[in-house]
Amino acid sequence: MNAYIMGTGSYLPEQTVTNDDLAKLVETNDEWIVSRTGIRERHVSVGETTADMAAEAANAALSMAGVTAEELEMILLATVTPDHIVPSTACEVQKKLGAVNAVAIELNAACSGFVFALNTAQAYVRAGIYRKILVVGVETLSKIVDWSDRGTCILFGDGAGAAVVGADEERGIMDFIQYSDGAKGDALLCDARPLKNPFISREVEHGYVSMDGQEVFKFAVKRVSESIDQLLQRNSLTTDAIDCYVLHQANARIIQTVAKHLKEDMGKFPMNLERCGNTSGASVPLLLDELNRSGRLKRGDRVIMSGFGGGLTWGSIYMVW
Ligand code: UT7
Repeated sequence: MNAYIMGTGSYLPEQTVTNDDLAKLVETNDEWIVSRTGIRERHVSVGETTADMAAEAANAALSMAGVTAEELEMILLATVTPDHIVPSTACEVQKKLGAVNAVAIELNAACSGFVFALNTAQAYVRAGIYRKILVVGVETLSKIVDWSDRGTCILFGDGAGAAVVGADEERGIMDFIQYSDGAKGDALLCDARPLKNPFISREVEHGYVSMDGQEVFKFAVKRVSESIDQLLQRNSLTTDAIDCYVLHQANARIIQTVAKHLKEDMGKFPMNLERCGNTSGASVPLLLDELNRSGRLKRGDRVIMSGFGGGLTWGSIYMVW
């Protein structure tokens, strides 16, 4: 049995922030942001919590799948921006949905989060342990972004995407590849709560996202291209067989460079980063939901999904839709 996607859903906060809005906060301009990243605007929470957005996306996915919350056996939620340290956002979403029969587990793999969570769902389905799993990618990055750092604040946005996964013999995840390289973790960093107790005297501060943009750019292009090559090769596929590539939406130039490496037409690489920015673990399911609802993804289509980012982490999935 393979994990296949029965239904998708997504949620974006109502508030949009344009490049011109950001130019009022930091020294930047629309032309620089569009030409270097492809991003024109992003959605930013002005009240929605990570759990609120995840539950909205999950309810939409359940409704499309025709699955009730009680039928869910597992919730796998990927985020780096939970509302609390305890309880997990996965447990909060379980409560919001009333998914009383599901075990709820949270996973942190930054921008690879949804891809890794979907692979985990595949492992449970393959092992015959569960047959109905909710997989969510959700981020409220606006709360960990340094809004005075023009190198990062122009990139990120908030949002959520979800997929209800079932078991099928003919379609679904055919193969996946996933990797981590913790030794290069400093390239994209955000501290958790700092050490602060009555036994130390030094001043402590909360951290915000910092990134070596060029390092991450080079890593992304190299590793995503490699992992797609590997997947194609070991499944005896040529690029002609692939209908659509759903890549993490970090930067249009990264996606263009991967397309060039594969000698593929950009038409096979849909993007929504122009409107959503980089939503980390939410970007792949947000885009999947758009493509699914618009009819761009059809039963039997061969799809490659790739996630890459903090950790460092990266991975790709070959799926028959
Ligand atoms: O999802 C997680 C994975 N993250 C990524 O995939 C991000 C990967 N990296 C990137 O997308 C790109 O590296 C960035 C978009 C972050 C930056 O683009 P870049 O082409 O690598 O620019 P850069 O950092 O080399 O900066 C070029 C110049 C610098 O000025 P000087 O030193 O040449 O005078 C920067 O200070 O652009 C300057 N700059 C800006 N100028 C206007 C940096 N940020 C901005 C800005 N507006 N927002």
